[in-house]
Amino acid sequence: MTFHIGAKSGEIAETVLLPGDPYRARWAAQTFLQDAVLVNEVRGMLGYTGTWRGHRVTIQGSGMGMPSLSVYANELIRDYGAQTLIRIGSAGGMQPQVKVRDVVLAMAASTAGSPSRLMFREMNFAPTPDFGLLRAAHEAGQAIAAARGIGLHVGGIYSSDTFYDERPDLNEALQRHGVLAVEMEAAELYMLAARYRRRALAVLTISDHLLTHEALPAEDRERSFGDMVEIALTAAFA
Ligand code: ADE
Repeated sequence: MTFHIGAKSGEIAETVLLPGDPYRARWAAQTFLQDAVLVNEVRGMLGYTGTWRGHRVTIQGSGMGMPSLSVYANELIRDYGAQTLIRIGSAGGMQPQVKVRDVVLAMAASTAGSPSRLMFREMNFAPTPDFGLLRAAHEAGQAIAAARGIGLHVGGIYSSDTFYDERPDLNEALQRHGVLAVEMEAAELYMLAARYRRRALAVLTISDHLLTHEALPAEDRERSFGDMVEIALTAAFA
């Protein structure tokens, strides 16, 4: 047990999927895993361990924002020995070619304020995912995207500290530099993975769009989330 995770030693798999929403963790575990067992419910941040095609997997809610994700990822890595951590979550589209429902694989995550950012002071550390995971997710994602008629993009994203933004000028500068989407967790996950030599990736569905102000209809959310789970699991065990 740790401060925030009630699982006993050995109850967390080496491969962990991290949705922000704990109810999504429950849905993904019930939908994709065999013999899923609830291993954490501290603060309602549900976590389940089961198997997918014979491989042990934990699906653990991370909460919203980098401070929350940082708590769970630190404990999963340092106390439970997690080796592969894949965020599955939503993001806001920032480019015209990135449409609502599309999937973005985050090849770099810029941030102004992750919990790890202060370690680097004036240094602008570039948080990146594991290349093998990224490549495997791209291969799995191409097949799934083609079957579902959605776009798959690989590129830079922005990990923000705010959902309700007071800096439209910053978003505009990031858009001019080709940043594909904004979310709130990946940069810290990538920094922790770099520090502890673990594999990490963020697989994101575009749920809303900063340019068109469109939003993913509620009836499409489950299917889009399922596509990400499939991409993440296939990549983890490629
Ligand atoms: N996650 C999903 N949409 C987002 C947005 N517009 N800003 C930040 N995080 C998000």
